[in-house]
Amino acid sequence: MYRGGCKHAYMFSRIQLRFSFLLLYIFISLINVFTFACDPSIIYPPLNRPGPPYSVPLTNLSEHFKCYPGENHRKRWILFLPGSTEEVKELYSWNWMRILNDKGWPFCTLQLPEKGLGDLQIAAEYIVYAVRKMYKKTTKEKKEGIRRKTRINIIGHSLGGALPRFALRFWPDIRYMVYHLIAFGATNHGTSMADIACDVFRCPVSVTQQRINSSFLCALNSFQETFPSIKYTNILSKFDEIVRPVNSSEINEKGVANIYIQDICPLRIFSEHLGAGIYDYCGYFLTMSALRSKSLKNISSEDCCTEKLMPGINISTVEFFSKVSFSAKEHLKHLLMHMGEIKDEPELKCSFRTDCIKRKRKVKRIKLR
Ligand SMILES: *[C@@H]1O[C@H](CO)[C@@H](O)[C@H](O)[C@H]1NC(C)=O
Ligand SMILES: *[C@@H]1O[C@H](CO)[C@@H](O)[C@H](O)[C@H]1NC(C)=O
Ligand SMILES: *[C@@H]1O[C@H](CO)[C@@H](O)[C@H](O)[C@H]1NC(C)=O
Ligand SMILES: *[C@@H]1O[C@H](CO)[C@@H](O)[C@H](O)[C@H]1NC(C)=O
Ligand SMILES: *[C@@H]1O[C@H](CO)[C@@H](O)[C@H](O)[C@H]1NC(C)=O
Repeated sequence: MYRGGCKHAYMFSRIQLRFSFLLLYIFISLINVFTFACDPSIIYPPLNRPGPPYSVPLTNLSEHFKCYPGENHRKRWILFLPGSTEEVKELYSWNWMRILNDKGWPFCTLQLPEKGLGDLQIAAEYIVYAVRKMYKKTTKEKKEGIRRKTRINIIGHSLGGALPRFALRFWPDIRYMVYHLIAFGATNHGTSMADIACDVFRCPVSVTQQRINSSFLCALNSFQETFPSIKYTNILSKFDEIVRPVNSSEINEKGVANIYIQDICPLRIFSEHLGAGIYDYCGYFLTMSALRSKSLKNISSEDCCTEKLMPGINISTVEFFSKVSFSAKEHLKHLLMHMGEIKDEPELKCSFRTDCIKRKRKVKRIKLR
């Protein structure tokens, strides 16, 4: 008995020790998180430089893109985008896709290549392809008299809210094709969670590109973050566990609506990174108001907070939790599959910078301290 107790105490202290090391490591990483600035040696192209041609074959670009025509042709088409680790159908089929099918609204979905964990400079081409394709479709429908509005809406979760902005920044021809970009918890300025993950482990390419002040994000946000002809709405959660600090999702430029669900419904703890746009009723209400071009300034808590879940979700509590936990499990699975892939962010391609010819050797990110 005595010896056993001693062994347990020993084990306990070992676990405690390991745990303290882990905490220490996380603490050190947290301190290091805010030390990178944008690489000052990179020169970004002017806003109106025409976009590069596709580097991915057209057959690959098209096989990730799927459209679902609705009878209600007068509405704008909506393009749905998933985030890193996410599968677009798995993410939207039991909520938004069901709602829009009921309304008869037409929409398309785009699966990002490599589950949004590969090089985002390449993934952006898939968005450019999808937007051009949809615009062509709606223009044709307008000529045939079945549609009044041609410009499209984009709805994206997490990376799926930020990556379209890279496409809009570097392929200027698609700017007039997009009417409204609605993002749920977008990684617009990166997340310190990616910093911690990539400091501690080797991590997937797209995670290195979603670090705060990564070359990819500095290019994305270069000169101006928004374009005046496009509407932007960010639907956010104060309890976002993936995008940290939570305000790095915000775009603080004129004409952008940054709305926190908890500013309207303070007690919505369950509406975190996934919930805000995928199952929360208030997220749904805000998105529908945004799609109908209504102001989001005066949304009342009576309108937003009485219901908990989106109307499309009629599944049982058990099914609901199994969906959410399946999604969490899938995230982890895809993340682990790509873990150990890479440590440093890939070089920004010459298409997205103008200093390529002059630059010969690799320039490391500059540390502030
Ligand atoms: C990111 O870089 C900019 C300028 O390059 C700098 O002002 C800002 O503080 C950096 N952000 C963080 C969180 O380090
Ligand atoms: C294009 O698709 C083919 C077949 O699925 C695949 O083998 C190839 O690696 C893809 N190429 C790119 C650049 O994604
Ligand atoms: C987030 O808040 C901090 C502190 O108020 C501020 O310095 C930073 O610029 C904000 N970030 C964004 C993207 O608005
Ligand atoms: C929003 O509400 C405020 C105060 O309740 C009111 O003064 C303002 O006119 C409203 N704005 C809109 C756009 O309805
Ligand atoms: C949920 O909705 C689907 C399709 O709209 C319907 O077939 C099904 O009967 C509904 N289930 C419940 C429990 O209401």
